[in-house]
Amino acid sequence: MMESPPALVLEDVSKRFGRVQAVDHLSLQVEPGHLAGFLGPNGAGKSTTLYMIPRLVRPTHGRISLFGVDIWKNYKKAIRSVGITVETPAFYEYLSGRKNLELTARLLDHVSAREIDEILERIGLAERQHDRVRVYSTGMKQRLGIGRAMLGRPRLLILDEPTNGMDPEGTHEVLSFLREKVRNDGLTIFISSHLMSEIEEYCDSVFVINRGHLVASGRVKELLKPHERIVRVTFQGKVPDRDFISRHEQIRNVEPVTADTMEITLAQDDSAWLNQCLQQAGFRVSAIAPKQKTLKEFFLSITGLRHAEVPLSINQAPAAQAGLYAPQSQASATQAGDKSHD
Ligand SMILES: Nc1ncnc2c1ncn2[C@@H]1O[C@H](COP(=O)(O)OP(=O)(O)O)[C@@H](O)[C@H]1O
Ligand SMILES: [Mg+2]
Repeated sequence: MMESPPALVLEDVSKRFGRVQAVDHLSLQVEPGHLAGFLGPNGAGKSTTLYMIPRLVRPTHGRISLFGVDIWKNYKKAIRSVGITVETPAFYEYLSGRKNLELTARLLDHVSAREIDEILERIGLAERQHDRVRVYSTGMKQRLGIGRAMLGRPRLLILDEPTNGMDPEGTHEVLSFLREKVRNDGLTIFISSHLMSEIEEYCDSVFVINRGHLVASGRVKELLKPHERIVRVTFQGKVPDRDFISRHEQIRNVEPVTADTMEITLAQDDSAWLNQCLQQAGFRVSAIAPKQKTLKEFFLSITGLRHAEVPLSINQAPAAQAGLYAPQSQASATQAGDKSHD
C-alpha cells in the first residue's frame, strides 16, 4: 500500500456516446496537494471525463478511484471526498448566496450553519452572503459554485472550466483564490480549461487532452524548462542585422522581440560564445538569458504538430496574455478545434 494514495486515478477510462468516442482510453493520476489542470480544446472530452468521476456519466470502460477508493465498489465512501462544479453552475438567482448554499446543504448529511459561515468566509462572500445571487458578478457566482462544491468538506475539488467566460481580472481572482486554497487549506483541485495561459500560470501539473486522448502530462515547471539553445538577448544601442547573422554558422535564427531584445537560436548550447562574439563585433549586451518555453511550444514539441495543426482554442488566451503566443497561427488553427465530430 502507498502511504498517501493519489487524490484521483483514472485507469483506461473511455466513454462513447453513440458514434462519438468522447473519451478514449484515458489514464491519469492527480497527486494530493496539487492544483492540477486539465487542458484541451472545446469538445476534447474534458467535461465528459470530469462528470464520470462523481458518476454523473457512466463510463463505457475503465476504473476510477478517489484517494484509493474505487467509485464503483464503494461509491458512498469515495464520493464523500469529492466536490464538483459543472461548467455553468446554476443558482436560484432571487435567493441570497447563503440561502443557495443552505438548500444544497440540506441534501447532504451533517452540514452545520457554522460550516456554511466558514465556507462563505473562505470564498470571500461573507459580506455579500445576504445579497441576491442576481446581483453577483460572474466571479462571485463562480466562487459561490466553488463554495457549494466545498460543502461536506471534500478533500478534492473538481471544477469544470471555473473561469469560462470571465474577463482577465475575474479569471485571476478565481485562480489565485484556488491557488490559495491548495496552499493553505491542503485541498487538491482539478480544474479544466481550454486556455493554456491559465494552466501555465497557476497550476502545478497539467494533463493535456485532445479528441479524448491524453497527449501530454507532467509538472508545469518540468514541461516548461527553459530552452537550451534559444537565448533572449537585450542590447544597449544597435542590434545585429541579417548580415551579421549570416556570417556566423553557429547562429541558426534570430527573432526580434522588442526594439532592443532578440531571441537567438544557436546551433549549440553556448551562450558564453555568443556573448563574446557579440561583444567583439561591437554590440553592447545588457542581458542574456535562456528563453522560457511556453506551454504552446511545449505542446508543439511533444505532438510534432505544425503551428496550424494545434487545436488552437487552447490558445485563445485572454487579451492581456495573447502576446505570449504566435498570433499568426491563431486564426488558422481555431478551426482545428474538435467541432468536427460533434
Ligand atoms: N450527452 C452527450 N451525448 C452525445 N455526445 C456528447 C454528450 N456529451 C458530450 N458529447 C460529445 O462528446 C465530445 C466531448 O465533449 P465534452 O466532454 O463536452 O468536451 P469538452 O468539455 O472538452 O468541451 C464532444 O464531441 C461532444 O459533442
Ligand atoms: Mg466542457
